[in-house]
Amino acid sequence: MNEERAASEQEAVENDVVARVLASFENTPDARLRLVMTSLVRHLHAFLREVRLTETEWESAIAFLTAAGHITDDRRQEFILLSDVLGASMQTVAINNPVSGGATQATVFGPFFVDDAPHVERGGDIALGAVGEPAWVEGVVTDLRGDPVPGARIEVWEADEDGRYDVQYADARVGGRGYLYSGIDGRYAFWGLTPTPYPIPFDGPVGDLLTATARSPYRAPHLHFMVSAPGLRTLITHIFVRGGEYLDSDSVFGVKESLITDFVVQDAGTPTPDGRELGGRTWSRARFDIVLADSE
Ligand code: BEZ
Ligand code: FE
Repeated sequence: MNEERAASEQEAVENDVVARVLASFENTPDARLRLVMTSLVRHLHAFLREVRLTETEWESAIAFLTAAGHITDDRRQEFILLSDVLGASMQTVAINNPVSGGATQATVFGPFFVDDAPHVERGGDIALGAVGEPAWVEGVVTDLRGDPVPGARIEVWEADEDGRYDVQYADARVGGRGYLYSGIDGRYAFWGLTPTPYPIPFDGPVGDLLTATARSPYRAPHLHFMVSAPGLRTLITHIFVRGGEYLDSDSVFGVKESLITDFVVQDAGTPTPDGRELGGRTWSRARFDIVLADSE
């Protein structure tokens, strides 16, 4: 058989596999599932054929996914981490939070949100004993028309200065998280911690992947927000510290220019906005105004 003929027969064999797999999904009653599965099959096979995947590589991929399954439990979600480091989480955020006339941009949710965070009053302290430089964070929540949004629920969570969220502590301490409501003028304020960089969990297969590809597990310093109010689109986002490390190489591609915020460091002894005594420590001050889009 000449080379040209062999190549065209090989192509026919490969095309036939794709066609048969696609046909197997033809009778899927749910049109959306049919679309998603047939598109997935086309892209997956195109990928396999483009890289000419070897059988050893196929086995490595299965071992990788098996390890991701084994390390996943109620507190550790390796598949979300994988989605994060592949940029799939941020791409899904981008698709589902269309840029909308000045609304605050969304970013990745991350695995460290917990549902039952404590309530704090406006001006209260969400650090709750978590260590780090105090940060006063304030702003106003408005809608796209510029009207203040009173009673918006503002959930915030962040790592301590050692880069750990409370759910990563050995004990059940709660710290670095809480929720508050905006006032009748849409304003909010709270004490938190000046964010510092930290690595995503890298002691599992996703960490091995980052090492093998010479990538850093570090995230740019940030503070998470989830803001919700009736009739408005819930916003899940972070603010990032201007000048912080890893802004250009955030391991989960979460940084958006519009979310980079000044955390202006105040000398020790500078009076605080609410008269809080900080015992001769430096502190920082950030302003983050939040614009919520209309819900669809
Ligand atoms: C986080 O910011 O908390 C986070 C996001 C994605 C993966 C790991 C951590
Ligand atoms: Fe985080």
